[in-house]
Amino acid sequence: MNKQVDPPDLPAGGHGVGFERILVTAALPYANGKIHLGHLAGAYLPSDIYVRYQRSMKRDVVFLCGSDEHGVPITITAEQEKTTPQAVVDRYHALNKAAFEKFGMSFDNYSRTSMPLHHEMAREFFLELHKAGVLKEKKEKQLYDKKAGMFLPDRYVEGTCPVCANPDARGDQCERCGTFLNPTDLKNPRSKITGETPTVRETTHFYFPLGAYQQQLEEYIAAADARDGWKENVLQYCRGWFKEGLQDRAVTRDLDWGVKIPIKGYETKVLYVWFDAVLGYVSATKEWASQQGHPDKWKNYWLSSTTKYVAFIGKDNVVFHCIVFPAMLMAWNATSPGKYVLPENVPANEFLNFEGQKFSKSRGWGIDVDEFLEEFPADALRYTLTMNLPELRDTDFTWKDFQARNNNELADILGNFINRTFTFAHRNFDGKIPELGPLNDLDKQLLSSLQSVPKKAGKLFEQYHFRDAVLEIMNLARFANKYFNDSEPWKTLKTDPVRCATTINLCLQAIRSLAILLEPTVPFSAAKMWRMLNLPQSPSQAGWKSAAEVVLTTGRGLGQAEILFSKIEDEAIKKHVEKLPSTPPSTPKASAAKPTISIDDFKQIDLRIAKVIAAEKVPKSDKLLKLRVSIGTEERQVIAGIAQHYAPEDLVGKKIVVVANLAPAKLMGQESQGMILAASDNNGKLSILTIATDLAEGSVVK
Ligand code: 2FM
Ligand code: ZN
Repeated sequence: MNKQVDPPDLPAGGHGVGFERILVTAALPYANGKIHLGHLAGAYLPSDIYVRYQRSMKRDVVFLCGSDEHGVPITITAEQEKTTPQAVVDRYHALNKAAFEKFGMSFDNYSRTSMPLHHEMAREFFLELHKAGVLKEKKEKQLYDKKAGMFLPDRYVEGTCPVCANPDARGDQCERCGTFLNPTDLKNPRSKITGETPTVRETTHFYFPLGAYQQQLEEYIAAADARDGWKENVLQYCRGWFKEGLQDRAVTRDLDWGVKIPIKGYETKVLYVWFDAVLGYVSATKEWASQQGHPDKWKNYWLSSTTKYVAFIGKDNVVFHCIVFPAMLMAWNATSPGKYVLPENVPANEFLNFEGQKFSKSRGWGIDVDEFLEEFPADALRYTLTMNLPELRDTDFTWKDFQARNNNELADILGNFINRTFTFAHRNFDGKIPELGPLNDLDKQLLSSLQSVPKKAGKLFEQYHFRDAVLEIMNLARFANKYFNDSEPWKTLKTDPVRCATTINLCLQAIRSLAILLEPTVPFSAAKMWRMLNLPQSPSQAGWKSAAEVVLTTGRGLGQAEILFSKIEDEAIKKHVEKLPSTPPSTPKASAAKPTISIDDFKQIDLRIAKVIAAEKVPKSDKLLKLRVSIGTEERQVIAGIAQHYAPEDLVGKKIVVVANLAPAKLMGQESQGMILAASDNNGKLSILTIATDLAEGSVVK
């Protein structure tokens, strides 16, 4: 049984080359506000679990993050808080860094893009592309606020989305339909500073010719598609961009907060925040290397073909990490001797909602990480979020689920198993590890699980299926708890002491394995479990592979039992549920009654029973699904804003009701030839109307 389990092998590189080291980055959060639980479930917790697992596998891994401190999100916050951008980023950088630490994020460096080292790095990168003739200078019309005396880039303008008619779309993106916009695309634009309607003025900027890299990027994404582990959503999103054709993108802005560039005529301009932010990953690595006393060490990770680079992000950052950043690196690699590694994977999570709604600071919906951790332990949150990670589609955090996960799973299963084992060993075996005797079938089953779970869970971690991996590990804890019960050591203590000793020995071995396997997910509790077992170093130093081994030696003294997971009382949860604004934020007000219409008016609407034949997501949109429906005599394409409520595969075959005589409309460039009927309740839950009986397609609804 001392035989080691073979580790899940590090996947081979794109060219069949094994990787020597792993570079992991997590999206740099804007330092313009506090991070909330949604951020954790997007990029941060999955990246931390992944890195902790890789460290436990003894791989050479470096993990970087930091604050994104430039751009309009920061300057707008400074204006709102009536302070300077520097004061804003200093405040939120410190707050977020501390919150991440408390949550157990194990970054090797949490850097910031306002540091001089980063400004130098980003400037050098820009100037290199400029020198090589990659960037094009263009004069373009931009929105200008006469009253404020400034141009209005990105989020400085709001207006109506040209795609979905959302009246509050931002100048860089419409949050409702997900479309990326230029401020000049907005209908009825208004300045975020003065509320005035902007005028149009000419200004000069440098543009990155994204289109020139389309073919290379398509090859890059096709190669990614051929590898294991890329999320279909991410690939689909990229394909959508390619289909539309990549356009030049301005990489400078008329702002004075950001990275300055020493070019005549650009004294009042800075780099576009996204151009410098992605380079923040490199400067964070440079800073780390210097801290290590080996300033060139960053090159081992970034300028090496044997590095596996994994960039964890939330889904709203896909275009920048799968298209813009790789294209920037391709441009650099074509002109400079040092060749940057491109992301081997970009595991982008969908969004986590909070009690059925989007997190919204302004509407008081959600909870910040620091506030949460004032009251509840980090591991309870890490575990709950892991089990609800939005890996494939949006998920929801609820207080009730948090309480149930903590009480019924962490406390009642894992905590209970560990607690009863330790109590028994202290009471009946003098706090020492009892002897392992002959094995019965149940013992063998437990040992076989101890051997197989590290390999299974490891493979799932390698494929970014964190929830499934942790489910495997928790099932091992469940099994171990049942093993204790079924083995009835309280009876065998008298009737068969050798058997009793064997049971407790194996329970303690299982606790050691669980500490190793759970360390990436609940590191604080795993460290406690290790201390209780009185083991040297840490679970990750013992190493993932060693979770499959039976190595605790008979007679070793155990440490003191510690409380691992306390139950969360109803009161503590109730308090938070009651604190929620009584009307969920995005709930439409009770709809006003509409004017009376005649039966003839109603008859103008051609309502038909339709059958869904095919359904898929609309590329680049979080909200829209494209349905192919049959209304008997013909098939129609209908675009419906239901992607956050239904998976495409759940709809195929359903009989629904459509408005068949609605004038066709274009949504995200796709024609919609009808509308499906749906209702939403006060919690924002949406349900499409489906027909239970087998009415023929095309039947008239009246
Ligand atoms: O969306 C955001 O919060 C950005 N600050 C993410 C930047 S990721 C990287 F490019 F730095
Ligand atoms: Zn829109």
